[in-house]
Amino acid sequence: MTGKVYLIGAGPGDPQLMTLKATRALAAAEVVLVDELVNRGCLAHARSDARVIGVGKRGGCTSTPQEFIQRLMVRHARQGQTVARLKGGDPFIFGRGGEELQALKAAGIDVEVIPGITAGIGVPATLGIPLTHRDLARGVTFVTAHTKDGGEPNWDALARLGSTLVIYMGLSRLAHIAGELLAAGLGPATPACVIENGTLGNQRQAVSTLECLVDDAAALGSPAIIVIGEVVRLAEIGVRARFNSGSDPESRVA
Ligand SMILES: C[S@@+](CC[C@H](N)C(=O)[O-])C[C@H]1O[C@@H](n2cnc3c(N)ncnc32)[C@H](O)[C@@H]1O
Repeated sequence: MTGKVYLIGAGPGDPQLMTLKATRALAAAEVVLVDELVNRGCLAHARSDARVIGVGKRGGCTSTPQEFIQRLMVRHARQGQTVARLKGGDPFIFGRGGEELQALKAAGIDVEVIPGITAGIGVPATLGIPLTHRDLARGVTFVTAHTKDGGEPNWDALARLGSTLVIYMGLSRLAHIAGELLAAGLGPATPACVIENGTLGNQRQAVSTLECLVDDAAALGSPAIIVIGEVVRLAEIGVRARFNSGSDPESRVA
Protein backbone atom coordinates (compact mmCIF):
# COMPACT_ATOMS: atom_id res chain seq x y z
CA MET A 1 0.00 0.00 0.00
CA THR A 2 1.31 3.43 -0.93
CA GLY A 3 1.15 6.04 1.81
CA LYS A 4 -0.14 9.57 1.65
CA VAL A 5 1.46 13.00 1.70
CA TYR A 6 -0.09 16.01 3.41
CA LEU A 7 1.18 19.36 2.14
CA ILE A 8 0.55 21.41 5.24
CA GLY A 9 0.64 25.15 5.81
CA ALA A 10 1.96 25.77 9.34
CA GLY A 11 1.00 29.46 9.38
CA PRO A 12 3.25 32.50 9.77
CA GLY A 13 5.10 31.55 12.96
CA ASP A 14 3.04 31.40 16.12
CA PRO A 15 2.15 27.69 16.47
CA GLN A 16 -1.32 28.67 17.67
CA LEU A 17 -2.03 29.95 14.17
CA MET A 18 -1.98 26.42 12.74
CA THR A 19 -5.38 25.12 11.74
CA LEU A 20 -7.00 22.18 13.50
CA LYS A 21 -6.79 20.23 10.28
CA ALA A 22 -3.05 20.92 10.06
CA THR A 23 -2.44 19.68 13.60
CA ARG A 24 -4.47 16.53 12.98
CA ALA A 25 -2.67 15.68 9.77
CA LEU A 26 0.68 16.29 11.46
CA ALA A 27 -0.33 13.99 14.30
CA ALA A 28 -1.01 11.21 11.78
CA ALA A 29 2.41 11.37 10.11
CA GLU A 30 5.27 8.92 10.55
CA VAL A 31 7.63 11.19 8.63
CA VAL A 32 7.70 14.98 8.87
CA LEU A 33 9.63 17.11 6.37
CA VAL A 34 9.87 20.56 7.86
CA ASP A 35 10.97 23.86 6.36
CA GLU A 36 13.43 26.20 8.04
CA LEU A 37 10.84 28.94 8.59
CA VAL A 38 8.41 26.71 10.44
CA ASN A 39 8.49 27.44 14.16
CA ARG A 40 9.68 24.31 15.95
CA GLY A 41 6.77 24.75 18.41
CA CYS A 42 4.52 23.46 15.62
CA LEU A 43 6.16 20.05 15.98
CA ALA A 44 4.46 19.63 19.35
CA HIS A 45 1.59 18.16 17.34
CA ALA A 46 3.76 15.48 15.73
CA ARG A 47 3.92 11.93 17.04
CA SER A 48 6.73 11.41 19.52
CA ASP A 49 8.10 8.60 17.31
CA ALA A 50 7.78 10.54 14.06
CA ARG A 51 10.95 10.91 12.02
CA VAL A 52 11.48 14.66 11.66
CA ILE A 53 13.67 15.77 8.75
CA GLY A 54 14.69 19.41 8.39
CA VAL A 55 14.74 20.42 4.74
CA GLY A 56 15.66 24.04 5.32
CA LYS A 57 15.90 26.70 2.68
CA ARG A 58 16.78 30.17 3.72
CA GLY A 59 17.95 33.05 1.56
CA GLY A 60 21.72 33.09 1.32
CA CYS A 61 22.26 29.76 3.13
CA THR A 62 22.83 26.25 1.89
CA SER A 63 19.51 24.79 0.97
CA THR A 64 18.11 21.34 0.42
CA PRO A 65 17.57 20.92 -3.32
CA GLN A 66 13.89 20.98 -4.24
CA GLU A 67 14.20 17.80 -6.31
CA PHE A 68 15.68 15.99 -3.30
CA ILE A 69 12.73 17.04 -1.10
CA GLN A 70 10.31 15.80 -3.73
CA ARG A 71 12.13 12.50 -4.12
CA LEU A 72 12.14 12.06 -0.33
CA MET A 73 8.38 12.51 -0.12
CA VAL A 74 7.79 10.07 -2.96
CA ARG A 75 10.15 7.49 -1.45
CA HIS A 76 8.54 7.54 2.00
CA ALA A 77 5.03 7.46 0.56
CA ARG A 78 6.00 4.48 -1.61
CA GLN A 79 7.20 2.74 1.54
CA GLY A 80 3.60 3.05 2.77
CA GLN A 81 4.25 5.88 5.22
CA THR A 82 2.13 8.91 5.98
CA VAL A 83 4.22 11.99 5.27
CA ALA A 84 3.64 15.52 6.55
CA ARG A 85 5.33 18.19 4.46
CA LEU A 86 5.21 21.13 6.84
CA LYS A 87 5.71 24.48 5.17
CA GLY A 88 5.68 28.04 6.50
CA GLY A 89 2.55 30.12 5.94
CA ASP A 90 0.48 28.67 3.13
CA PRO A 91 2.02 25.99 0.91
CA PHE A 92 0.81 27.67 -2.27
CA ILE A 93 1.96 31.22 -1.55
CA PHE A 94 5.59 31.66 -2.64
CA GLY A 95 6.35 28.29 -1.10
CA ARG A 96 6.84 25.94 -4.06
CA GLY A 97 3.89 23.91 -2.84
CA GLY A 98 2.55 23.91 -6.39
CA GLU A 99 5.71 22.24 -7.67
CA GLU A 100 5.58 19.65 -4.90
CA LEU A 101 1.94 18.87 -5.64
CA GLN A 102 2.76 18.40 -9.33
CA ALA A 103 5.69 16.11 -8.54
CA LEU A 104 3.64 13.98 -6.14
CA LYS A 105 0.74 13.67 -8.57
CA ALA A 106 3.12 12.77 -11.40
CA ALA A 107 4.48 9.98 -9.19
CA GLY A 108 0.94 8.74 -8.51
CA ILE A 109 1.07 9.59 -4.79
CA ASP A 110 -2.12 10.36 -2.86
CA VAL A 111 -1.75 13.95 -1.67
CA GLU A 112 -3.90 16.37 0.30
CA VAL A 113 -3.25 20.10 0.63
CA ILE A 114 -4.01 21.78 3.94
CA PRO A 115 -3.90 25.57 3.60
CA GLY A 116 -2.30 27.80 6.19
CA ILE A 117 -2.38 31.47 7.10
CA THR A 118 0.13 33.12 4.84
CA ALA A 119 2.62 35.58 6.37
CA GLY A 120 1.24 38.38 4.20
CA ILE A 121 -2.10 38.10 5.98
CA GLY A 122 -1.18 36.89 9.46
CA VAL A 123 1.76 39.23 10.07
CA PRO A 124 0.17 42.62 9.27
CA ALA A 125 -2.80 41.55 11.42
CA THR A 126 -0.54 41.57 14.48
CA LEU A 127 -0.35 45.36 14.13
CA GLY A 128 -4.05 45.72 13.42
CA ILE A 129 -3.37 46.55 9.76
CA PRO A 130 -6.42 45.61 7.68
CA LEU A 131 -5.12 44.81 4.21
CA THR A 132 -8.36 46.06 2.69
CA HIS A 133 -10.57 48.81 4.05
CA ARG A 134 -13.53 50.42 2.32
CA ASP A 135 -12.08 53.90 2.83
CA LEU A 136 -8.42 53.16 2.22
CA ALA A 137 -7.78 50.17 -0.06
CA ARG A 138 -10.10 48.23 -2.29
CA GLY A 139 -7.68 45.44 -2.91
CA VAL A 140 -4.42 43.85 -1.92
CA THR A 141 -1.61 42.51 -4.08
CA PHE A 142 0.93 39.93 -2.92
CA VAL A 143 4.24 39.92 -4.73
CA THR A 144 7.66 38.44 -4.23
CA ALA A 145 10.77 40.48 -4.83
CA HIS A 146 12.79 37.30 -5.32
CA THR A 147 12.14 35.38 -8.52
CA LYS A 148 13.61 32.28 -10.14
CA ASP A 149 14.86 34.11 -13.23
CA GLY A 150 16.06 37.25 -11.44
CA GLY A 151 13.19 39.25 -12.90
CA GLU A 152 11.07 41.53 -10.79
CA PRO A 153 7.50 42.72 -10.51
CA ASN A 154 6.20 45.51 -12.73
CA TRP A 155 6.54 48.26 -10.11
CA ASP A 156 4.94 50.85 -12.43
CA ALA A 157 1.80 48.76 -12.76
CA LEU A 158 1.72 48.01 -9.02
CA ALA A 159 2.07 51.69 -8.13
CA ARG A 160 -0.90 52.53 -10.38
CA LEU A 161 -3.17 49.84 -8.88
CA GLY A 162 -3.90 51.79 -5.71
CA SER A 163 -4.18 48.57 -3.71
CA THR A 164 -2.27 47.58 -0.59
CA LEU A 165 1.04 46.05 -1.60
CA VAL A 166 2.43 43.14 0.42
CA ILE A 167 5.96 42.16 -0.55
CA TYR A 168 7.56 38.86 0.43
CA MET A 169 11.33 38.30 0.41
CA GLY A 170 11.98 41.97 -0.26
CA LEU A 171 14.04 43.19 2.68
CA SER A 172 17.44 42.84 1.03
CA ARG A 173 16.15 44.87 -1.94
CA LEU A 174 14.20 47.42 0.08
CA ALA A 175 16.10 50.46 -1.21
CA HIS A 176 15.58 49.34 -4.81
CA ILE A 177 11.87 48.61 -4.24
CA ALA A 178 11.19 51.92 -2.52
CA GLY A 179 13.10 53.76 -5.26
CA GLU A 180 11.12 52.02 -8.01
CA LEU A 181 7.77 52.74 -6.38
CA LEU A 182 8.67 56.39 -5.78
CA ALA A 183 9.83 56.71 -9.40
CA ALA A 184 6.56 55.11 -10.49
CA GLY A 185 4.61 57.86 -8.78
CA LEU A 186 3.77 56.64 -5.26
CA GLY A 187 3.95 59.59 -2.87
CA PRO A 188 6.92 59.81 -0.48
CA ALA A 189 4.48 60.06 2.43
CA THR A 190 2.74 56.79 1.53
CA PRO A 191 2.53 54.77 4.77
CA ALA A 192 4.79 51.73 4.71
CA CYS A 193 6.15 49.21 7.17
CA VAL A 194 8.50 46.27 7.56
CA ILE A 195 7.65 43.51 10.03
CA GLU A 196 10.30 40.99 11.07
CA ASN A 197 9.52 37.61 12.69
CA GLY A 198 5.83 38.42 12.64
CA THR A 199 3.54 36.68 15.15
CA LEU A 200 6.53 35.47 17.17
CA GLY A 201 7.82 36.65 20.53
CA ASN A 202 10.78 38.35 18.85
CA GLN A 203 8.67 40.31 16.36
CA ARG A 204 9.99 43.78 15.50
CA GLN A 205 8.65 46.34 13.11
CA ALA A 206 9.34 49.71 11.58
CA VAL A 207 6.26 51.73 10.71
CA SER A 208 7.21 54.58 8.48
CA THR A 209 6.67 56.14 5.07
CA LEU A 210 7.88 55.03 1.68
CA GLU A 211 10.47 57.78 1.67
CA CYS A 212 11.93 56.93 5.11
CA LEU A 213 11.38 53.17 5.26
CA VAL A 214 14.92 52.19 4.24
CA ASP A 215 16.45 54.17 7.09
CA ASP A 216 13.79 53.26 9.61
CA ALA A 217 13.97 49.54 8.89
CA ALA A 218 17.77 49.38 8.72
CA ALA A 219 18.00 47.41 11.97
CA LEU A 220 15.56 44.72 10.88
CA GLY A 221 16.37 41.32 9.41
CA SER A 222 14.70 38.32 7.77
CA PRO A 223 12.15 36.91 7.62
CA ALA A 224 10.29 40.12 6.99
CA ILE A 225 7.20 41.31 5.18
CA ILE A 226 6.87 44.77 3.63
CA VAL A 227 3.45 46.40 3.58
CA ILE A 228 2.86 49.58 1.60
CA GLY A 229 -0.35 51.56 1.37
CA GLU A 230 -2.79 53.81 3.22
CA VAL A 231 -3.95 50.96 5.48
CA VAL A 232 -0.56 51.01 7.23
CA ARG A 233 -1.72 54.29 8.75
CA LEU A 234 -3.90 52.14 11.03
CA ALA A 235 -0.95 50.23 12.51
CA GLU A 236 -1.13 50.04 16.27
CA ILE A 237 2.29 49.88 17.84
CA GLY A 238 1.88 52.43 20.54
CA VAL A 239 3.82 54.95 18.50
CA ARG A 240 2.73 56.50 15.26
CA ALA A 241 6.21 57.33 14.07
CA ARG A 242 6.41 59.56 11.03
CA PHE A 243 2.71 60.33 11.05
CA ASN A 244 2.99 62.49 14.17
CA SER A 245 5.07 65.58 13.92
CA GLY A 246 7.94 65.70 16.36
CA SER A 247 8.01 61.96 17.01
CA ASP A 248 11.12 60.56 18.65
CA PRO A 249 13.27 59.04 15.89
CA GLU A 250 14.32 56.28 18.29
CA SER A 251 10.74 55.08 18.49
CA ARG A 252 10.44 54.22 14.81
CA VAL A 253 11.53 50.67 15.41
CA ALA A 254 9.27 49.12 18.00
C1 LIG B 1 9.69 31.47 0.84
S1 LIG B 1 8.54 32.63 1.40
C2 LIG B 1 7.36 31.56 2.09
C3 LIG B 1 6.03 32.20 2.33
C4 LIG B 1 5.04 31.28 2.98
N1 LIG B 1 4.70 30.18 2.10
C5 LIG B 1 3.78 32.02 3.41
O1 LIG B 1 2.70 31.72 2.88
O2 LIG B 1 3.88 32.86 4.28
C6 LIG B 1 9.36 33.30 2.82
C7 LIG B 1 9.03 34.75 3.05
O3 LIG B 1 7.78 34.89 3.72
C8 LIG B 1 7.82 35.99 4.59
N2 LIG B 1 7.62 35.51 5.96
C9 LIG B 1 7.44 34.25 6.36
N3 LIG B 1 7.25 34.17 7.69
C10 LIG B 1 7.33 35.43 8.15
C11 LIG B 1 7.22 36.03 9.43
N4 LIG B 1 6.96 35.29 10.53
N5 LIG B 1 7.36 37.37 9.55
C12 LIG B 1 7.59 38.13 8.47
N6 LIG B 1 7.69 37.63 7.22
C13 LIG B 1 7.56 36.30 7.06
C14 LIG B 1 9.17 36.65 4.40
O4 LIG B 1 9.06 37.62 3.38
C15 LIG B 1 10.00 35.47 3.95
O5 LIG B 1 11.16 35.89 3.27
